[in-house]
Amino acid sequence: MSAPDELVEEVLGRYAGAPNERLKEVMEAAVRHLHAFVREINLQRDEWFEAIKFLTATGQMCDDTRQEWILLSDTLGISTLVEMLTYSGIDGSTENTVLGPFYVPGSPERANGESMLVDPDDGDRVVIRGTVTDVDGKPIEGAVLDCWQNASHGFYACQQPKEQTPENLRGIYRTEADGSYEIRTIRPVPYPIPYDGPVGMLLKANARNWMRPGHTHVWLKAPGYKDLITHVFDVESDYLHDDAVFGVRESLIATFAPDENGELATTFDFVLDRAA
Ligand code: BEZ
Ligand code: FE
Repeated sequence: MSAPDELVEEVLGRYAGAPNERLKEVMEAAVRHLHAFVREINLQRDEWFEAIKFLTATGQMCDDTRQEWILLSDTLGISTLVEMLTYSGIDGSTENTVLGPFYVPGSPERANGESMLVDPDDGDRVVIRGTVTDVDGKPIEGAVLDCWQNASHGFYACQQPKEQTPENLRGIYRTEADGSYEIRTIRPVPYPIPYDGPVGMLLKANARNWMRPGHTHVWLKAPGYKDLITHVFDVESDYLHDDAVFGVRESLIATFAPDENGELATTFDFVLDRAA
């Protein structure tokens, strides 16, 4: 056995006594994969120190409003992978995607058809309407659609507490008896994820994009059904095929076109999976 082989076995042995079975499983896999990774890339001492500096800076960037670790997870595709593993809606239910850092609880209740735009904004006005049903097509009455979106200059209200009204482009809608809902908003535009920290440096060093395609976030809740955290993307948006956080699902891409009243609209039907 080579010295690195002996080392990994010794380390594994020291973790083998964890009383919690899940912790034991996680630590065993972590040690095996981390040792294999370090050996595969033949990691050198100065490189490891650079990595430590990066990880330290990532932690130091975090505060109550900025979570650089989640951003790192997002840009490595880990957040999306965890979403895929955690939420497995059955066939026919709407796909989920990442929550992102800009969700703020307590959005104002809005009547169906009301606009969630509060502040001046030169974005195109759009309507997102449709139904919320179960997988058999039965309408769900009173389903909550908690929505949030960035303004046309790219920022969410929570990112600009001095410039935007806190309720701008946020709203809670509820479905009618026939499962229908109607949201008025602005056409979502692409925007950058926060790239002024260590994660941004890593993206730049890898010649990677830090933009997300235009989307409206929707968190759906209804008694007896699984919560669904998802987005509605605009088919005409840039970056649909290069989302910085790997959140796009083909089934979540909507097409906006003039409706019979001349409003730019899309019909997007959500299908919820029953709670276990
Ligand atoms: C968002 O869509 O709001 C978002 C998601 C992940 C990282 C940054 C922003
Ligand atoms: Fe977003």
